[in-house]
Amino acid sequence: MHKYEKIWITLGTSALALFLIILGISAVHGGHTPAASGIETINPEHVRDDARFKEPGLVKSKSSDHDYDLYFVASAFMYEPGEVEIPVGSTVKVHVTSPDVVHGFQVVGTNINMMAEPGLISTYEMTFDETGEHLILCNEYCGVGHADMTSKLIIVD
Ligand code: CUA
Repeated sequence: MHKYEKIWITLGTSALALFLIILGISAVHGGHTPAASGIETINPEHVRDDARFKEPGLVKSKSSDHDYDLYFVASAFMYEPGEVEIPVGSTVKVHVTSPDVVHGFQVVGTNINMMAEPGLISTYEMTFDETGEHLILCNEYCGVGHADMTSKLIIVD
């Protein structure tokens, strides 16, 4: 065999092997994406059995990086709680889930705009620096009562 031919065959084989290795690695990692991105799951049929969502609302956080956890259940066609008071200056981690269909969870005047999906808990952390009211709206069409789905965050002094 010619010397250059040998080199090219070796290079070609190595490139193919490398390609297959990379493909294998990405396939393995790709399969674990949901867990790695930190999405929490919940059985949608047992949302009410979960202590956090039994009487959803504002609770003092056990974590040091935020002051409160705020739990919401979005269902057809309401949010629970229907209104929440938050002390101004607090950092709040909002957790939302749905026991039925996909709902939206948009807090007007903030960057909070998530989906409430059955089987998943969506979270968003933010600090409320100003007093005032923020309407919560459903921005995913969910049925006849879609437009009636509202709640309210009231930031108090
Ligand atoms: Cu819930 Cu639209």
